[in-house]
Amino acid sequence: MQTEYAQRRQQFLAKIGKGTAVFRSSPMAVMHNDVEYNFRQDSDFFYLTGFNEANAVAVLTAQHEHHRFVLFVQPKDLEKETWTGYRVGVEAAKERFGADEVYPIAELREKLPQYLEKADRIYYRLGRDRRFNDTILSQWQTLMATYPKRGTGPTGIEDPAPTLHALRQVKSPAELDRMRTAAAISVEAHNRARKFACPGRYEYEVQAEIEHTFGLRGTGVAYPSIVASGANACVLHYTENTRQMQDHELLLIDAGCAYEYYNADITRTFPVGGKFTAEQKILYEIVLAAQMKAIAQVHPGNPYKQIHDTAVRVLVEGLMDLGLLVGDIEEIIKEEKYKPFYMHRTGHWLGLDVHDVGVYQHGETPHNLEPGQVLTVEPGLYISPFIKPVEGQPEVDSRWHGIGIRIEDDVVVTEQGCEVLTEGVPKAIEDLA
Ligand code: GLY
Ligand code: MN
Ligand code: MN
Repeated sequence: MQTEYAQRRQQFLAKIGKGTAVFRSSPMAVMHNDVEYNFRQDSDFFYLTGFNEANAVAVLTAQHEHHRFVLFVQPKDLEKETWTGYRVGVEAAKERFGADEVYPIAELREKLPQYLEKADRIYYRLGRDRRFNDTILSQWQTLMATYPKRGTGPTGIEDPAPTLHALRQVKSPAELDRMRTAAAISVEAHNRARKFACPGRYEYEVQAEIEHTFGLRGTGVAYPSIVASGANACVLHYTENTRQMQDHELLLIDAGCAYEYYNADITRTFPVGGKFTAEQKILYEIVLAAQMKAIAQVHPGNPYKQIHDTAVRVLVEGLMDLGLLVGDIEEIIKEEKYKPFYMHRTGHWLGLDVHDVGVYQHGETPHNLEPGQVLTVEPGLYISPFIKPVEGQPEVDSRWHGIGIRIEDDVVVTEQGCEVLTEGVPKAIEDLA
């Protein structure tokens, strides 16, 4: 894996020419008072280094005589490590992470200028750590003050994101392996949860069953698990998971694990008591048809947007057949009159982040899919008891109220078309009822 991190740094350096890039690790996030959340490295930092400690800085530059990759890390400190866990330390970081030079983080202000002074710009993403932003800005100002004497130095700060995120958007075979594992564990968790769920159980029990599987496989949640029964499924980010499930209701589970930093993101919706009502079944069939047709659009060269457009058309046709939307289909789609029923996009990139980085559109020009890109396909229909159709559209009969359905799979663009990583969780009606 070290070779792969080195390759990524090389690729990135080739793109920034005479610039020097500075990346900051994630901070420790406070849960409350003296207690911190488990540390999770910043995805850009991790992608380029594999180093997963807080309070670190990585520098990538082609503008230093000897060093291309430099790390600033927390030094070994046995007393502190007794409290907060082991640190790699300065010596071992050089060896283990392939850095040309490693310094204690306390030396950042003193050592950083030598990596910036010959660069034509600083690649740095202004982050939430104001003090660190100030460090970079003040170093830049200092260098610019002496620019007239030297005639070299960074004349601007540029966000590394567009360059770096274009690399992150296309996954390597090693990354895809991790994503396959994350998907397989999440598939197992969903399958266990579906068998476990039944009327009378509470949503949090199902959540525990899912996360138990994640834990047994050495992983954790990729995002807060959504276990939404009945009308709760109409709340897109419902995470309370406190309700007792009833017969004749649907259960929507949106849950995935993170395996070695790579995420899965799966949603399934099924009848808690093993039997769809007529209304649930009709809406489910529409969402499933939309999802299957949208997945069929995942093919290299196809515009990303086509996936959403395809799903929307199938959903709108279905709602029109039921009389829940009326009028001209093109106008309904163009003016987004379906939005009270379907208010989110049909997916997102997936990878080190659940909502992964990378562009979806280049101004007026569509982004076309490329092999190695990974995305979710997740259409849904949500008929909240409080739904308000747009003006000119009919009121929704109460028999549809409280039904929320989403079906979400993780899909890799391949040379020939696509590979659905999460197809091991059933979604056909006959497998659910
Ligand atoms: N679970 C987050 C999402 O589906 O985007
Ligand atoms: Mn998703
Ligand atoms: Mn999801």
